[in-house]
Amino acid sequence: MTTIDLAVIPGDGIGKEVVPEALKVLGKALSGTGVEIATTHYDLGAEYWQRTGQALSDEDLEAIKGHDAILLGAVGDPSVPSGILERGLLLRLRFALDHYVNLRPSKLYPGVPTPLAEPGQIDFVVVREGTEGLYCGNGGVVRQGTPQEIATEVSVNTAFGVERVVRYAFAKAASRPAKHLTLVHKHNVLVHAGGLWRRTVEAVSAQYPEVTVDYAHVDAATIYLVADPGRFDVIVTDNLFGDILTDEAGAITGGIGLAASGNINPEGAFPSMFEPVHGSAPDIAGQGIADPTATISAAALMLDHLGHTRPARRIEAAVEADMAGRADGRSRSTAEIGDAIAQALEA
Ligand code: NAD
Ligand code: IPM
Ligand code: MN
Repeated sequence: MTTIDLAVIPGDGIGKEVVPEALKVLGKALSGTGVEIATTHYDLGAEYWQRTGQALSDEDLEAIKGHDAILLGAVGDPSVPSGILERGLLLRLRFALDHYVNLRPSKLYPGVPTPLAEPGQIDFVVVREGTEGLYCGNGGVVRQGTPQEIATEVSVNTAFGVERVVRYAFAKAASRPAKHLTLVHKHNVLVHAGGLWRRTVEAVSAQYPEVTVDYAHVDAATIYLVADPGRFDVIVTDNLFGDILTDEAGAITGGIGLAASGNINPEGAFPSMFEPVHGSAPDIAGQGIADPTATISAAALMLDHLGHTRPARRIEAAVEADMAGRADGRSRSTAEIGDAIAQALEA
């Protein structure tokens, strides 16, 4: 028996509602495979912060480093000042565990209603840099509250950090049928960071002659995602552009409730972390209506990452079968969707 030692962080809001559905589906997908899951729950999030004044203790961080992988729901709550949990918990994990690849696949499944494309026409993956850019916390405020207040937020782009994520993106593109890579940036304005990204892509492309490469400024990329999403295969981009584009990528493929994400440390020096692209959705939390599909698909990404490709494919197939039945537009609860996908695994 192989055991996956899984850290589970349900977090806040709908994170707590969708994670149990993903665990249910994981259990079903692995039954009889010789692989089992041992979970350790970390009750981090708004309540923990209210109680302790900390978003993530050093002890919990060290303990989390010892697991094989992490499944996270979502963090962030209106009762906590903005940024405390997002930076102190989620980004702290991504940075401490060196999740420099944030992998966000987008696929349009048959049955998902959208006027934008036919099923099969959207199938791309965003490789979002996860440890640098505007997310570093490099900045500050002086003269706060005065008319002379100055706020800076400086984007950090290192040759090392850009090169390793660009290399990952090329390898990903080379492994896919279309073998196409699009760099998305804004090098017409952000000439310093954009120049580094562009030169890095040029340099690495010499080692991947089979991969075709193009470029889009991020503003134009938001148009192409809606107007011509079929042009994309692998998109490589920085942390903030990738954040924005992947919410849009969710929206064009049926909704943010379907979009999965892996925060990956490709070398395996630290556990990788799998989560939906969406957040804690305070506007619908507590109602049992959040779509758990994104978190279920994130669990499949996790199995893939850990080398359990067969159960990963089975979860994808179950999700696809469930999507196919959505054309009737009937609304279902979180648990009903989780049950339906778990049941499809029995077939
Ligand atoms: P959000 O992703 O939580 O919600 C955006 C919209 O999408 C809302 O209308 C919400 O109802 C809807 N939505 C999200 N997930 C859904 C699902 N599974 N099913 C159906 N509808 C869904 O983004 P937000 O409202 O900007 O942020 C809310 C909080 O979550 C903030 O504190 C934010 O910082 C945090 N956040 C956390 C993560 C994360 O943990 N990875 C990601 C994004 C936002
Ligand atoms: C996401 C979220 C996070 C991000 C926030 C909550 C830090 O929006 O996972 O997409 O910006 O990366
Ligand atoms: Mn986001």
